[in-house]
Amino acid sequence: MHKSKFYVTTPIYYVNDQPHVGHAYTTVLADVLARYHRLLGTPTFFLTGTDEHGQKVAKAAAAAGLTPQEQADKTVVRFQQLWKKLGITNDDFLRTTEARHKTVVQQMLADLYKRGEIYRAEYDGWYCVPCERFFTEKDLIEGTCPDCRRPVEKIKEANYFFRMGKYQQWLIEYIQDHPKFIQPDFRRNETLGFLRQPLNDLCISRPKSRLPWGIELPFDADYVCYVWFDALVNYISAIGYRADDATFKKWWPASVQLIGKDILTTHTVYWPTMLKACAVPLPEMVFAHGWWLTGGSKMSKTTGNVVDPMDMIERFGVDAFRYFLIAEMVMGQDASFTEDSFVRRFNADLANDLGNLLSRLVNMTTRYFEGKLPAPAEDALKGGEEKTVWDTVQAAVTTLERSVVDLRLHEGAGAAIVAVKAINRYLELKQPWTMAKQPDKAPLATTLFTAAECLRVAAGLLYPVMPEKMMVVLSSLGQTDTTPKLDELRAWGVLQPGAPLKDFGPLFPRVEKTEEASGQKSEVSQKKAQPAAKPAPEKTNVVELLDYDHFAKLDLRTAKIINAAKIEGADKLLKLEVFVGEERRQIVAGIALYYAPEKLIGKMVVIVANLKPAKIRGVESQGMLLAASKGEKLVLVTLDGELSSGAKVK
Ligand code: ME8
Ligand code: MG
Repeated sequence: MHKSKFYVTTPIYYVNDQPHVGHAYTTVLADVLARYHRLLGTPTFFLTGTDEHGQKVAKAAAAAGLTPQEQADKTVVRFQQLWKKLGITNDDFLRTTEARHKTVVQQMLADLYKRGEIYRAEYDGWYCVPCERFFTEKDLIEGTCPDCRRPVEKIKEANYFFRMGKYQQWLIEYIQDHPKFIQPDFRRNETLGFLRQPLNDLCISRPKSRLPWGIELPFDADYVCYVWFDALVNYISAIGYRADDATFKKWWPASVQLIGKDILTTHTVYWPTMLKACAVPLPEMVFAHGWWLTGGSKMSKTTGNVVDPMDMIERFGVDAFRYFLIAEMVMGQDASFTEDSFVRRFNADLANDLGNLLSRLVNMTTRYFEGKLPAPAEDALKGGEEKTVWDTVQAAVTTLERSVVDLRLHEGAGAAIVAVKAINRYLELKQPWTMAKQPDKAPLATTLFTAAECLRVAAGLLYPVMPEKMMVVLSSLGQTDTTPKLDELRAWGVLQPGAPLKDFGPLFPRVEKTEEASGQKSEVSQKKAQPAAKPAPEKTNVVELLDYDHFAKLDLRTAKIINAAKIEGADKLLKLEVFVGEERRQIVAGIALYYAPEKLIGKMVVIVANLKPAKIRGVESQGMLLAASKGEKLVLVTLDGELSSGAKVK
C-alpha cells in the first residue's frame, strides 16, 4: 500500500472546445487518487494539461477566425478555471505549446532520427482528418475510417515514420508479462487483439503545406510533428525528461495514467513503443475508463451532446458533483449522465444518509449534552451494537484501501455510504431519544460518541472525494485539524470528549428535479431542450392553444452555425451565419449574454425557417433560433444526435 512515490496523469485535453463532464471525470478521478496518496504521506505528483497542436485545434481556430495560438490561449483558460472550481490539486499543468515541452519533443525526434528509428518514405494511402490517422486500404471499413466511420481522404506524400512495427513482438510479450500495465483486464485483451494484426510503422510527420500547426521536425523544416507523437511526450517532458534528471528519476515511471477508452491504442501501443525506442521504462499502469453517455451516445464535443460541468456545480455544488462522478460510474464501464440519477443519488446518499446523520448527532448533543461531545464507556467496543457498527465502518476502510489499489473508486465511495447507513441504523436501534429519558446518561453518552466516532471515520474515507464538505463534517464533530489522518481511521477514540460540536446548518439540503426533468426522466442536456422553448428574448411571444394545422405551418429546420459575431452597439445580439441544408442564412439572435460567439460555431440548432425576414438593429435576420429559458438562464435547443442541417423538425 505505501509506495515510495505516486505519479498520476490525465490525458492532456484538446483546446478545440471547452471542457465537458467527460473531461471533468478523468480529472476528478486523478484528483481523488492524488489526494488519497497525499493523505497517506506518499510523495505525490499529479499532472494534467492541454494538447494544443494538430488539426483539430487548427480547424477550430480557423472556424473562430483566430490563430491556433489564440484559440489555445483562449480555451486553456476554460480548463484551468474549471479545475480551480472543482478543487483539482494538480501539481503542474502542461501546455504542449510551452518551450519546455517543445524542446524535449525536438530532442527526442532528433535522437530517434539519428539512430534510424525514424526514416523518410513515400506514403500512399488513406487519411482520416478528424482522427488524424493514416490507414491502408485494407484497414478501411466500407471505404470509411475504421475508428469513426467517417469518410477518408486519399493522400500521397513523403513523410517520416517511426519504426513502431519492429516492437510488435516485444510489446505483446511485455503486456503479457505485466498484467497491471493495461487495466481493466478486458482492455488489455482489446490491445492484445489489436496486436494480432501486423503493426505498421507510425507516420509521425505532417507536411507544413497541409498542416503548419505543430512542432517543427528538427531534421526537416518542411514538416511538423504528428500531434500524438508530440502529445504523449507531455507525461515525461513535464517532469524533467532530458532536462532535469533528478526530478525525472524521482517521478518516472508513472504509477497510474488515466485515460478514456477512446485513446487506448495511442496509450498502449504508440506510447510504450516510443518509450522503448528511447530506452525509457513504461508506466506502471494505463487505466482506461468508460464513457459518460447522454441519450445513449458518447458525450462529445463533436456530437455536441455535452453537459457543462460549471452548470452542474452551480446547481448542486462542487462536492456533490465530484461525488456523483465517482460513485455513479463503475470504473471501466460506461454510464449515463442523467439529471434523474443525479438527483436521486444526491438525495439518497448525501441529503438523507450523510447530511441527516450529522444534523441528528449535532442536535442530540446540543439537546442532551449542551453541545459537548460526551465520553463513551471505557469498554464501549467490547461487544453489542457498538462493536457491530464499528466493524462495519472498519470494513469500509478496508474496502476503500483496496479500491484505491485496484482502481475501483466507486466501490470505496459505496462502502463509505454503506457505513453511513449502518451508523444511522445503529442510532435507530439504540433510540437515543428514548435513552435520554433515563436518569443514567452513560449509555446515551456511549451511543452518541460511538455514532460520532464512526462518522469521523466515514468522513475521512470520503474526504478525497468531497474535501470541502468533509472538512465541515470533521469541524462539526469538534475536530480542530480537519485534514484526516489515514492511520487514525483504524483508531478508536480520536474525537475528544468535551469538544464542542458545531452546527453549520444542513450539509446537503435536498434538491428537487427541475419541472422539465421530473416530467419525463430526461437527460440533463435534454432538459434544456424542451419544446417549451421560447424565441430569442427580443421578440414577444403570444401563447395560445393551436390547431395542429397552425403548428404544421411552422417550418422548423436544423441549422448548422458556421459563423457568429457580436453586433456593434447591441450587447445582447449576435449575428449568426447558418447552413440550412445547402442554403446559407443570416440570423440575428438575442443570445449574446449567454453564449460566446466562438462557442456557437459548429453547433447544430433548430430554427424557424419560414419567418418573414426582419431587420433587427439594422441587421437582416432570416429566421429565428429556438432556445429555452428560465430565470436567468437561456440555452439553445440542440439535437440529441447527429443529423445534417436542413432536416425538418416536427
Ligand atoms: O483525446 N466520457 O483529448 P480530448 C468519459 N488530446 N471521458 C471522456 C468523455 C466521455 N464522454 N469524453 C472525453 C484527446 N473524455 C487527446 C489526448 S493525451 C496524450 C492526448 C475524457 O480532449 C477521457 O479522458 O478528446 C478521454 O480520453 C479524454 O477526455 C479525451 O479528451
Ligand atoms: Mg476526443
